[in-house]
Amino acid sequence: MTSHKPPTARFPEPPALIAEGAIRARVASLAARIDHDYRGCDELLLVGVLRGAFIFLADLSRRLAIANHVDFIALSSYQGTEQTGAVRLIMDLRTDLAGKHVLIVEDIVDTGHTLDYLLRTLAARGPASLRSCSLLRKRERHEIDVHVDYVGFDVPDVWVIGYGLDYDDRWRTLPYIGVLEPEMLERVAQRPDPATSAG
Ligand code: IMP
Ligand code: MG
Repeated sequence: MTSHKPPTARFPEPPALIAEGAIRARVASLAARIDHDYRGCDELLLVGVLRGAFIFLADLSRRLAIANHVDFIALSSYQGTEQTGAVRLIMDLRTDLAGKHVLIVEDIVDTGHTLDYLLRTLAARGPASLRSCSLLRKRERHEIDVHVDYVGFDVPDVWVIGYGLDYDDRWRTLPYIGVLEPEMLERVAQRPDPATSAG
């Protein structure tokens, strides 16, 4: 088989903030902590927040020893890198949360508005327990004092991409967490939009 370029290959390669191996190790230790904390529970429902959390959720769910189910919810509040404030529910869960142990799985907690909205919305559905797990957290950007039960890494106030996180749907499939630099945006602006250019 010929080697193939990852889908991000035609975009500039971002400098790494968190390497692939460090992510793998951290996901394993988070899974071990979650297994420990939920010992005695029959099963856990992982609620992945689309789209950014899908890769983290896929890896975390496979690392857990506790029986787990997955469901997804889609929310949106961003255009580019600007938080618009209002969180919109785009796609709801299929699962009834009543009596279930629910763990929200997020890619990143930035201002905290999305997680705060989720905690309030899902708590009202009567789960047996409700906690949150986020691969990344930008603490200095928090506008709401929202508690995250399991945090992978605290990151500085930069726009991060890769391992599920995007900038306008680009760089999601990068295997590590990189930093979006302004020069990269200038270079991307000169290229055809991948969504409209068939390839
Ligand atoms: P919050 O509501 O401001 O906490 O934003 C949470 C959501 O914004 C995350 O789930 C991400 O989808 C997105 N987001 C925030 N910061 C970044 C970033 O640096 N890179 C990619 N997505 C981000
Ligand atoms: Mg997200």
